[in-house]
Amino acid sequence: MAAATLALASFGGAAQAAPQPWQLNMQRGATTWSQVPYDLNNISFGICVVIGILVFGAMFIAMFRFRKSRGAVAEKWSHNTGLEIVWTTIPVIILVVLAYLSTGGLTTWANTTGSQMTVKVTGYQWKWRYDYVSYMGKPIDKVGFMSKLDTQSDQTRQLGSGMDPYAVKVGDENTYLLNVDKPLVVPVDTKIRFVITSGDVIHSWWVPAFGWKLDAIPGIANAAWTNIKTPGTYRGQCAELCGQDHGFMPIVVVAKSKEDFAKWLAQQEAASATPAPAPAPAAAPAPAPAAASTAPATAAVAVAPPVGRAQG
Ligand code: CUA
Repeated sequence: MAAATLALASFGGAAQAAPQPWQLNMQRGATTWSQVPYDLNNISFGICVVIGILVFGAMFIAMFRFRKSRGAVAEKWSHNTGLEIVWTTIPVIILVVLAYLSTGGLTTWANTTGSQMTVKVTGYQWKWRYDYVSYMGKPIDKVGFMSKLDTQSDQTRQLGSGMDPYAVKVGDENTYLLNVDKPLVVPVDTKIRFVITSGDVIHSWWVPAFGWKLDAIPGIANAAWTNIKTPGTYRGQCAELCGQDHGFMPIVVVAKSKEDFAKWLAQQEAASATPAPAPAPAAAPAPAPAAASTAPATAAVAVAPPVGRAQG
Protein backbone atom coordinates (compact mmCIF):
# COMPACT_ATOMS: atom_id res chain seq x y z
CA MET A 1 0.00 0.00 0.00
CA ALA A 2 2.84 2.35 0.86
CA ALA A 3 4.40 1.60 -2.53
CA ALA A 4 1.12 2.21 -4.32
CA THR A 5 0.66 5.49 -2.47
CA LEU A 6 4.20 6.56 -3.34
CA ALA A 7 3.72 5.67 -6.99
CA LEU A 8 0.49 7.67 -7.06
CA ALA A 9 2.05 10.62 -5.31
CA SER A 10 4.76 10.82 -7.97
CA PHE A 11 2.16 11.15 -10.76
CA GLY A 12 0.75 14.30 -9.26
CA GLY A 13 4.07 15.55 -8.00
CA ALA A 14 4.11 18.94 -9.69
CA ALA A 15 2.57 21.48 -7.37
CA GLN A 16 0.57 23.07 -10.16
CA ALA A 17 -2.27 25.41 -9.37
CA ALA A 18 -4.02 24.62 -12.65
CA PRO A 19 -4.89 21.17 -13.98
CA GLN A 20 -2.41 19.88 -16.55
CA PRO A 21 -3.22 17.90 -19.71
CA TRP A 22 -3.15 14.16 -18.93
CA GLN A 23 -2.82 14.85 -15.23
CA LEU A 24 -3.75 11.61 -13.43
CA ASN A 25 -3.87 12.52 -9.79
CA MET A 26 -5.45 15.35 -7.85
CA GLN A 27 -3.32 18.44 -7.44
CA ARG A 28 -1.59 19.06 -4.12
CA GLY A 29 -3.10 22.50 -3.95
CA ALA A 30 -1.57 25.71 -2.73
CA THR A 31 -2.84 26.12 0.81
CA THR A 32 -1.87 24.95 4.28
CA TRP A 33 -4.82 22.55 4.30
CA SER A 34 -4.99 21.28 0.71
CA GLN A 35 -2.52 18.45 1.41
CA VAL A 36 -5.20 16.82 3.60
CA PRO A 37 -7.66 15.82 0.83
CA TYR A 38 -4.70 15.03 -1.43
CA ASP A 39 -3.31 12.52 1.09
CA LEU A 40 -6.78 11.16 1.89
CA ASN A 41 -7.40 10.50 -1.78
CA ASN A 42 -4.06 8.72 -2.19
CA ILE A 43 -4.55 6.58 0.93
CA SER A 44 -8.11 5.57 0.00
CA PHE A 45 -7.08 4.90 -3.57
CA GLY A 46 -4.11 2.82 -2.35
CA ILE A 47 -6.45 0.75 -0.15
CA CYS A 48 -8.83 0.29 -3.11
CA VAL A 49 -5.95 -0.88 -5.32
CA VAL A 50 -4.81 -3.45 -2.73
CA ILE A 51 -8.40 -4.73 -2.27
CA GLY A 52 -8.83 -4.86 -6.04
CA ILE A 53 -5.62 -6.88 -6.52
CA LEU A 54 -6.55 -9.35 -3.73
CA VAL A 55 -10.18 -9.84 -4.83
CA PHE A 56 -9.52 -10.08 -8.57
CA GLY A 57 -6.40 -12.19 -7.89
CA ALA A 58 -8.46 -14.69 -5.85
CA MET A 59 -11.16 -14.69 -8.56
CA PHE A 60 -8.75 -15.36 -11.40
CA ILE A 61 -6.88 -18.07 -9.45
CA ALA A 62 -10.22 -19.74 -8.66
CA MET A 63 -11.37 -19.54 -12.27
CA PHE A 64 -8.19 -20.83 -13.91
CA ARG A 65 -6.71 -23.28 -11.38
CA PHE A 66 -9.99 -24.82 -10.26
CA ARG A 67 -11.89 -24.95 -13.52
CA LYS A 68 -14.06 -27.93 -14.45
CA SER A 69 -11.96 -28.88 -17.50
CA ARG A 70 -9.03 -29.44 -15.13
CA GLY A 71 -11.14 -31.90 -13.18
CA ALA A 72 -11.83 -29.66 -10.18
CA VAL A 73 -14.65 -30.83 -7.93
CA ALA A 74 -16.52 -28.28 -5.82
CA GLU A 75 -16.39 -28.55 -2.04
CA LYS A 76 -19.72 -29.21 -0.33
CA TRP A 77 -19.41 -26.91 2.73
CA SER A 78 -21.24 -23.56 2.70
CA HIS A 79 -20.25 -21.87 6.00
CA ASN A 80 -16.95 -21.14 7.67
CA THR A 81 -17.17 -19.15 10.88
CA GLY A 82 -13.47 -18.32 10.97
CA LEU A 83 -13.46 -16.96 7.40
CA GLU A 84 -16.65 -14.99 8.00
CA ILE A 85 -15.15 -13.28 11.06
CA VAL A 86 -12.04 -12.38 9.04
CA TRP A 87 -13.91 -10.95 6.04
CA THR A 88 -16.17 -8.91 8.30
CA THR A 89 -13.47 -7.62 10.65
CA ILE A 90 -10.97 -6.51 8.00
CA PRO A 91 -13.46 -4.27 6.09
CA VAL A 92 -14.71 -2.81 9.39
CA ILE A 93 -11.12 -1.91 10.35
CA ILE A 94 -10.54 -0.34 6.92
CA LEU A 95 -13.76 1.71 7.17
CA VAL A 96 -12.97 2.85 10.71
CA VAL A 97 -9.49 3.99 9.62
CA LEU A 98 -10.93 5.88 6.61
CA ALA A 99 -13.68 7.44 8.75
CA TYR A 100 -11.11 8.52 11.34
CA LEU A 101 -8.90 10.14 8.71
CA SER A 102 -11.71 11.89 6.82
CA THR A 103 -13.43 13.12 9.99
CA GLY A 104 -10.12 14.57 11.16
CA GLY A 105 -9.74 16.32 7.80
CA LEU A 106 -13.29 17.66 7.84
CA THR A 107 -13.07 19.04 11.35
CA THR A 108 -9.87 20.97 10.61
CA TRP A 109 -11.49 22.29 7.40
CA ALA A 110 -14.64 23.43 9.21
CA ASN A 111 -12.76 25.15 12.03
CA THR A 112 -12.71 28.82 11.06
CA THR A 113 -11.67 30.08 14.50
CA GLY A 114 -8.70 32.40 14.51
CA SER A 115 -9.45 33.70 11.01
CA GLN A 116 -7.60 36.93 10.23
CA MET A 117 -9.87 37.95 7.40
CA THR A 118 -13.48 37.42 6.35
CA VAL A 119 -14.83 37.57 2.82
CA LYS A 120 -18.50 37.12 2.02
CA VAL A 121 -19.12 35.28 -1.22
CA THR A 122 -22.55 35.44 -2.83
CA GLY A 123 -23.55 33.39 -5.85
CA TYR A 124 -25.88 34.84 -8.45
CA GLN A 125 -27.13 33.57 -11.78
CA TRP A 126 -24.45 33.76 -13.22
CA LYS A 127 -21.73 35.62 -11.46
CA TRP A 128 -20.15 35.94 -8.03
CA ARG A 129 -20.15 38.82 -5.61
CA TYR A 130 -17.31 39.39 -3.14
CA ASP A 131 -17.72 41.60 -0.10
CA TYR A 132 -14.73 42.23 2.13
CA VAL A 133 -16.01 42.07 5.71
CA SER A 134 -12.91 42.38 7.88
CA TYR A 135 -9.13 42.17 7.77
CA MET A 136 -6.76 41.80 10.74
CA GLY A 137 -9.51 42.54 13.23
CA LYS A 138 -10.69 45.71 11.50
CA PRO A 139 -13.99 45.96 9.65
CA ILE A 140 -13.77 46.82 5.96
CA ASP A 141 -16.46 49.14 4.73
CA LYS A 142 -17.85 49.22 1.20
CA VAL A 143 -15.25 47.09 -0.53
CA GLY A 144 -17.21 44.69 -2.65
CA PHE A 145 -17.84 43.96 -6.30
CA MET A 146 -19.39 41.61 -8.81
CA SER A 147 -17.04 39.21 -10.58
CA LYS A 148 -18.22 37.89 -13.92
CA LEU A 149 -16.95 36.11 -17.02
CA ASP A 150 -14.34 38.15 -18.90
CA THR A 151 -15.46 39.90 -22.08
CA GLN A 152 -13.33 37.87 -24.51
CA SER A 153 -14.62 34.53 -23.21
CA ASP A 154 -18.14 35.91 -23.18
CA GLN A 155 -17.94 37.07 -26.80
CA THR A 156 -16.24 33.85 -27.91
CA ARG A 157 -18.91 31.63 -26.33
CA GLN A 158 -21.76 33.27 -28.25
CA LEU A 159 -23.31 30.98 -30.85
CA GLY A 160 -21.73 31.65 -34.25
CA SER A 161 -19.17 34.09 -32.86
CA GLY A 162 -16.51 32.59 -35.13
CA MET A 163 -13.97 33.39 -32.42
CA ASP A 164 -11.32 30.89 -31.38
CA PRO A 165 -11.61 29.57 -27.80
CA TYR A 166 -7.89 28.72 -27.88
CA ALA A 167 -7.11 32.38 -28.51
CA VAL A 168 -8.45 33.36 -25.09
CA LYS A 169 -5.24 33.59 -23.09
CA VAL A 170 -3.55 35.23 -20.15
CA GLY A 171 0.17 34.88 -20.84
CA ASP A 172 0.66 31.26 -21.99
CA GLU A 173 -2.36 29.97 -20.11
CA ASN A 174 -5.58 29.26 -21.97
CA THR A 175 -8.25 30.93 -19.90
CA TYR A 176 -11.35 30.36 -22.03
CA LEU A 177 -14.30 30.40 -19.56
CA LEU A 178 -11.78 30.56 -16.72
CA ASN A 179 -11.20 34.30 -16.43
CA VAL A 180 -13.22 37.10 -14.86
CA ASP A 181 -13.40 40.87 -15.16
CA LYS A 182 -12.57 41.44 -11.47
CA PRO A 183 -10.80 38.71 -9.48
CA LEU A 184 -11.05 38.20 -5.75
CA VAL A 185 -7.81 39.62 -4.32
CA VAL A 186 -6.54 38.16 -1.05
CA PRO A 187 -3.28 38.06 0.92
CA VAL A 188 -1.05 34.99 1.37
CA ASP A 189 -0.12 33.59 4.81
CA THR A 190 -3.48 34.69 6.19
CA LYS A 191 -6.28 32.53 7.53
CA ILE A 192 -9.19 33.71 5.42
CA ARG A 193 -12.73 32.80 6.34
CA PHE A 194 -15.21 32.61 3.50
CA VAL A 195 -18.87 33.07 4.33
CA ILE A 196 -20.69 31.66 1.34
CA THR A 197 -24.32 32.24 0.43
CA SER A 198 -26.51 32.79 -2.61
CA GLY A 199 -28.95 35.36 -3.89
CA ASP A 200 -31.05 33.02 -6.03
CA VAL A 201 -30.39 29.30 -6.55
CA ILE A 202 -27.77 26.89 -5.19
CA HIS A 203 -24.28 27.48 -6.58
CA SER A 204 -21.01 26.05 -5.31
CA TRP A 205 -17.78 27.96 -4.83
CA TRP A 206 -14.90 25.78 -5.94
CA VAL A 207 -11.21 26.58 -6.31
CA PRO A 208 -9.41 23.24 -6.72
CA ALA A 209 -6.09 24.60 -5.43
CA PHE A 210 -7.77 25.25 -2.06
CA GLY A 211 -8.80 21.60 -1.77
CA TRP A 212 -12.51 22.14 -1.12
CA LYS A 213 -15.79 23.33 -2.58
CA LEU A 214 -18.74 24.67 -0.65
CA ASP A 215 -22.37 25.11 -1.66
CA ALA A 216 -23.76 28.64 -1.85
CA ILE A 217 -27.35 28.25 -0.65
CA PRO A 218 -29.98 31.02 -0.47
CA GLY A 219 -30.80 31.87 3.15
CA ILE A 220 -27.88 29.88 4.57
CA ALA A 221 -24.39 31.15 5.37
CA ASN A 222 -21.84 28.36 4.95
CA ALA A 223 -18.31 28.94 6.17
CA ALA A 224 -14.90 27.54 5.31
CA TRP A 225 -11.37 28.85 5.40
CA THR A 226 -8.16 28.87 3.46
CA ASN A 227 -4.59 29.95 4.00
CA ILE A 228 -2.71 30.34 0.73
CA LYS A 229 1.01 29.65 0.85
CA THR A 230 2.24 31.19 -2.39
CA PRO A 231 1.21 34.30 -4.34
CA GLY A 232 -0.41 33.53 -7.66
CA THR A 233 -3.61 33.22 -9.61
CA TYR A 234 -5.96 30.41 -8.65
CA ARG A 235 -8.86 29.56 -10.91
CA GLY A 236 -12.08 27.76 -10.17
CA GLN A 237 -15.64 27.34 -11.31
CA CYS A 238 -19.16 27.10 -10.03
CA ALA A 239 -19.62 23.45 -9.09
CA GLU A 240 -23.37 23.16 -8.68
CA LEU A 241 -25.71 23.06 -11.67
CA CYS A 242 -27.41 26.44 -11.34
CA GLY A 243 -29.02 27.18 -14.70
CA GLN A 244 -28.18 27.84 -18.31
CA ASP A 245 -24.94 29.73 -17.64
CA HIS A 246 -23.64 27.41 -14.92
CA GLY A 247 -20.56 26.80 -17.04
CA PHE A 248 -19.94 30.51 -17.48
CA MET A 249 -19.41 31.79 -13.94
CA PRO A 250 -15.75 31.09 -13.20
CA ILE A 251 -13.84 32.08 -10.09
CA VAL A 252 -10.45 33.78 -10.05
CA VAL A 253 -8.54 34.36 -6.82
CA VAL A 254 -5.39 36.46 -6.96
CA ALA A 255 -3.18 35.92 -3.92
CA LYS A 256 -0.80 38.79 -3.23
CA SER A 257 1.91 39.32 -0.64
CA LYS A 258 0.62 40.98 2.51
CA GLU A 259 2.26 44.30 1.56
CA ASP A 260 0.74 44.29 -1.94
CA PHE A 261 -2.64 43.30 -0.55
CA ALA A 262 -2.57 46.14 2.00
CA LYS A 263 -1.88 48.59 -0.87
CA TRP A 264 -4.66 47.11 -2.99
CA LEU A 265 -7.12 47.25 -0.09
CA ALA A 266 -6.20 50.87 0.69
CA GLN A 267 -6.86 51.78 -2.97
CA GLN A 268 -10.22 50.04 -2.91
CA GLU A 269 -11.24 51.73 0.32
CA ALA A 270 -10.15 55.12 -1.01
CA ALA A 271 -12.11 54.55 -4.23
CA SER A 272 -15.28 53.52 -2.37
CA ALA A 273 -14.96 56.44 0.07
CA THR A 274 -14.76 59.08 -2.69
CA PRO A 275 -17.48 58.45 -5.26
CA ALA A 276 -19.11 61.86 -4.65
CA PRO A 277 -16.19 64.27 -5.33
CA ALA A 278 -15.10 62.51 -8.52
CA PRO A 279 -18.17 63.22 -10.73
CA ALA A 280 -18.95 66.56 -9.03
CA PRO A 281 -16.72 68.94 -11.09
CA ALA A 282 -17.76 67.50 -14.44
CA ALA A 283 -21.39 67.14 -13.41
CA ALA A 284 -21.79 70.74 -12.23
CA PRO A 285 -22.77 72.32 -15.58
CA ALA A 286 -24.59 69.24 -16.80
CA PRO A 287 -27.59 69.01 -14.43
CA ALA A 288 -29.06 72.36 -15.45
CA PRO A 289 -29.90 71.52 -19.11
CA ALA A 290 -30.78 67.97 -18.12
CA ALA A 291 -33.25 69.19 -15.52
CA ALA A 292 -34.61 71.75 -17.94
CA SER A 293 -35.14 69.20 -20.69
CA THR A 294 -36.81 66.65 -18.39
CA ALA A 295 -39.16 69.14 -16.83
CA PRO A 296 -41.38 69.75 -19.89
CA ALA A 297 -41.28 66.06 -20.76
CA THR A 298 -42.56 65.16 -17.30
CA ALA A 299 -45.21 67.81 -17.59
CA ALA A 300 -46.27 66.50 -20.98
CA VAL A 301 -46.60 63.00 -19.63
CA ALA A 302 -48.66 64.27 -16.71
CA VAL A 303 -50.93 66.18 -18.99
CA ALA A 304 -51.29 63.51 -21.65
CA PRO A 305 -53.80 61.14 -19.96
CA PRO A 306 -56.60 63.69 -19.49
CA VAL A 307 -56.16 64.72 -23.14
CA GLY A 308 -56.36 61.12 -24.22
CA ARG A 309 -59.47 60.51 -22.17
CA ALA A 310 -61.09 63.62 -23.54
CA GLN A 311 -60.47 62.38 -27.08
CA GLY A 312 -61.70 58.86 -26.18
CU1 CUA B 1 -23.63 28.86 -10.35
CU2 CUA B 1 -23.46 26.67 -11.29
